[in-house]
Amino acid sequence: MSNNVSHIRKEYSLQSLSEKEVDINPILQFENWWQDAIRSEVDEANAMTLATASSNGLPSARIVLLKGFSEKGFVFFGNYESYKGQQLAENPRASLLFFWKELQRQVRIVGIAKKICDEESDAYFHSRPLASQLGACVSPQSRVIENRKWLDDQFEEVSKKMSGSAIARPNYWGGYLVQPIVIEFWQGRINRLHDRLQYTLQENGSWKIERLAP
Ligand SMILES: Cc1cc2nc3c(=O)[nH]c(=O)nc-3n(C[C@H](O)[C@H](O)[C@H](O)COP(=O)(O)O)c2cc1C
Repeated sequence: MSNNVSHIRKEYSLQSLSEKEVDINPILQFENWWQDAIRSEVDEANAMTLATASSNGLPSARIVLLKGFSEKGFVFFGNYESYKGQQLAENPRASLLFFWKELQRQVRIVGIAKKICDEESDAYFHSRPLASQLGACVSPQSRVIENRKWLDDQFEEVSKKMSGSAIARPNYWGGYLVQPIVIEFWQGRINRLHDRLQYTLQENGSWKIERLAP
């Protein structure tokens, strides 16, 4: 075991989180924390870990970017044929995790991922820089490729072919909406006695709020 890891330790003491102050709606609570993250210039506040699992329970996690949220849920984009796309096709249960370290906060979301409609994916695809649109077209995300040159050659070839013409969104690329079932807000506190408030969706559409032990 390396000796220069276990001594890394940080005390959390910036803020607290209480039942009295939170919104009864977790999306509005997320919005409050999101605004705090933007105001505090949290680095890449929109970067979140997306955890998926295959139908036999093999987990996998990676970072994706949050591209929108509303009462309906949380949206990200990617390749539907990627590894995450395959796992979500087998098993739509997913978890999202934000770590806003500057605020000593974590938000965990558990929900069901669904593809968003083509019109919404088209709109976002075409709002991206042209090079990113081309990148999505040429990259068979998560597949084994020969080498870096193969990728660069593909990019160059498609760039030449498409030059000047509008790029159609490939049907294997688009958005997912994660519809939340559970959302937990975590605020770091002193002595590792952190505040954790968990919202669970009830059958009648309301949310139950419970405090979890840290
Ligand atoms: C900061 C950051 C942002 C990323 N954003 C996305 C994204 O929005 N969508 C995406 O598909 N991959 C994104 N990636 C790449 C993924 O982490 C991952 O490598 C890719 O989606 C393939 O994952 P998979 O093989 O599990 O499908 C991002 C990576 C980083 C580090």
